[in-house]
Parts: sequence; structure tokens; C-alpha cells
Amino acid sequence: MNEAPIGIFDSGVGGLTVWHEIVQLLPAEDTLYLADSAHAPYGERPAEEIRALSRKNTEWLLERGSKIIVVACNTATTNAIAQLRREYQVPFVGIEPAIKPAALNSRSGRVGVLATRGTLASDLFAETSKAYAAGIRILEQEGVGLVRLIESGNLEDPELAGRLETLLAPMLEAGIDQLVLGCTHYPFLIPVLRTLLPEQVKIVDCGLPVARQTQAVLAAKGWLRDAAHKGSHQLFTNGDPEVMGRLLELLGHSEQARFAPF
Ligand code: DGL
Repeated sequence: MNEAPIGIFDSGVGGLTVWHEIVQLLPAEDTLYLADSAHAPYGERPAEEIRALSRKNTEWLLERGSKIIVVACNTATTNAIAQLRREYQVPFVGIEPAIKPAALNSRSGRVGVLATRGTLASDLFAETSKAYAAGIRILEQEGVGLVRLIESGNLEDPELAGRLETLLAPMLEAGIDQLVLGCTHYPFLIPVLRTLLPEQVKIVDCGLPVARQTQAVLAAKGWLRDAAHKGSHQLFTNGDPEVMGRLLELLGHSEQARFAPF
């Protein structure tokens, strides 16, 4: 198993922000990344469809020998990971909005969560909010239109800052001091978000903890690759490889994305 790649999927290019953390933390590992951009955004689909798409992505990665599947999508994790774990033998690592650390670190007792409709509506999100945010006010906001915008690769869109400002306004009025990014696409917005948020508002993103969890699961199984190996990366999209290439570049990578019809 050690030599098999880490399989990673997202509804599109957002999971690259998680892929980036995995590559930084585990440079010896080979990776296989699948962007299902043709079906993004998942967040506007019914749970049953999100589950079917997650199953399709998992099978694609398993057919190509993945030793572990990282569900680099909050929407797919919160709606589908329990079922995936029941249906497949391979270990899964998922990502969900980091409410727990945000609640622990909040001084104002108010935490903002920016996520997709699918994530905010999921049972898993409701359970996590209940379990970890007792005594904390959670201000949820659907990131209306954000995934589509990032999927178009148009991060210089002059309307982006105004759109974010509108989405953030109720949270800021309520006095949040933590903003949880509950969608893996959103870390691409951090430079703009930083210009809009007061200094005391901390942005909470889960990419690195997911990479650490992937490392821990592989270590426990004895499936980590020999440290002397230099990892190679294959990135596939059923959307536009050029957009994906631009976002990879933003993250500081020179890998090329390839088109795969699936
Ligand atoms: N990156 C996905 C997430 O983390 C985006 C979901 C979507 O496609 O709507 O939720």
C-alpha cells in the first residue's frame, strides 16, 4: 500500500487548498486529485445527488489505486462521508467547518460560518454546532455565488469585494471574532477577505488539520511512503484545466492539470 497514491476529490478546484497542505506536509507521497467541476456547485444539489456524485468520484480514485480517499469538500463530507465509509473498505478523511476550535478561541462568543447551502443544511453540521458551540452564537451565512465565481477562475472580478461585504455584514454587526471558512473553495478568497475584516476577526480554515489527519491515518496503518521518495502529482478535472492551472499557480505550484471526461 505504501507506494499507492493519496486520492483526493472535490466538487471542483476548491479542494486544491487541501491538496496544497497535504503536499507540503507529506512531500514523499504521490497524489491523485479529481475536480468534478462539471457538476459544481454541489452545495445547491439535494443530498441524494451529492452522495451519488461522491460515490462516483470515490470509485474513479479507487480504480486508479488510491490507498486513502480525502474528501476535500465540506459539502460532500457533511452529506456523504458516513455512507461512503459504510460502502467502501478504504479509509476516508473528510473536512467539515471547524466550529470546535473557533468556539474554543472566541472571546466575543460569536462565531461566523461561511459555507454552502448543502453544508449548512446537513445533519452533521447541525450535530457539530450543537456539540461544540454550547453558549456560543453561531452566525451562519451561505456563500451565495462564491463557488461559481471561483470555478470561473475570475478572482479579480470587481464585484467580488462588494459581494463578500454584503455576505459578511450581518456577522460583523453581531460582533464575530472568528470566521470559519466552511468550504474548501473559500481560502482562495482570503486576500480579499482580509481587506474586509477587522484585524481582530480570525479566519479559521481546516486545510492543515486535514493534512495532519491524513498523515495520522496513514502512519497508523504503516502506509506512509519512504521519506526518500519525491512525490509526484496527477491532477484531473472534467472542467477547464487552464483555470485549474491558474489556481495551482496561485498556490505556488507548477503542476499542470489534465482534462478527464467522467
Ligand atoms: N469545495 C466545496 C465545499 O467545501 C464546494 C461545494 C460546492 O461545490 O458547492 O463545500
